[in-house]
Amino acid sequence: PGFWAVIPAAGVGSRMRADRPKQYLPLAGRTVLEHTLDIFFRHPRISGVVLVISADDGWFGDLDIRTDKPLWVVDGGAERCHSVLNGLKALMTHADPRDWVLVHDAARPCLSDGDLDQLLDTLRDDPVGGILATPVRDTKKRAGPDGRISATVDRGAMWRAFTPQMFRLAALEAALERALAEGFLVTDEASAMEHAGQAPLLVEGSARNIKITQPEDLSLAEFYLSRR
Ligand code: CTP
Ligand code: MG
Repeated sequence: PGFWAVIPAAGVGSRMRADRPKQYLPLAGRTVLEHTLDIFFRHPRISGVVLVISADDGWFGDLDIRTDKPLWVVDGGAERCHSVLNGLKALMTHADPRDWVLVHDAARPCLSDGDLDQLLDTLRDDPVGGILATPVRDTKKRAGPDGRISATVDRGAMWRAFTPQMFRLAALEAALERALAEGFLVTDEASAMEHAGQAPLLVEGSARNIKITQPEDLSLAEFYLSRR
């Protein structure tokens, strides 16, 4: 089966408080989105990319996109999960339902080739699929309503969920449709698969695969990119 990427890039980046959506901010000489797309354009095992952008996006046309791979650009939706579902539906018209799809946030430009390879190698024969993630390193506290600690949570079994999240195309599309129809809160692709009764695999990756969210994340990402 083939490997495809769906990249949700239809968010407004409200927490970044910038003059444009964060995926279009400059980072190490290019935009965040150009870095992210390039990871998948350059990777020899990725067959093509579906990019999901806002219907009123005024920035994508200015990017410098160079690839010989198929690139389909489709409209996003109200929440990330709706954008991803639009991307999956578009991919269904081009790919085999049993192909693998890797959903990766446009806002994670520091994904390394090594972690991407690790994900593909670990999951290529898996019945379900899985996600890049990293173990929690700090002690975890549960907060009470008064802002005081109500409990210390065992961090031994806790992981931070990253992207890419890799599943079979038709299985993921069906799981997302079902979760949304049933009003389940879909925060990532794995949560939709979990809701469908599956147990996605946690594949350990680097904590450098940050999601650019707040202004200070840009300089951290620039540092990580400079050390690759
Ligand atoms: N995303 C999307 N469609 C949406 C919302 C988000 O495609 N309706 C994308 C974002 O562009 C981003 C990824 O999903 O690449 C992760 O979302 P997040 O980090 O929350 O980005 P934003 O929603 O843009 O940021 P914020 O929540 O701060 O507004
Ligand atoms: Mg958001």
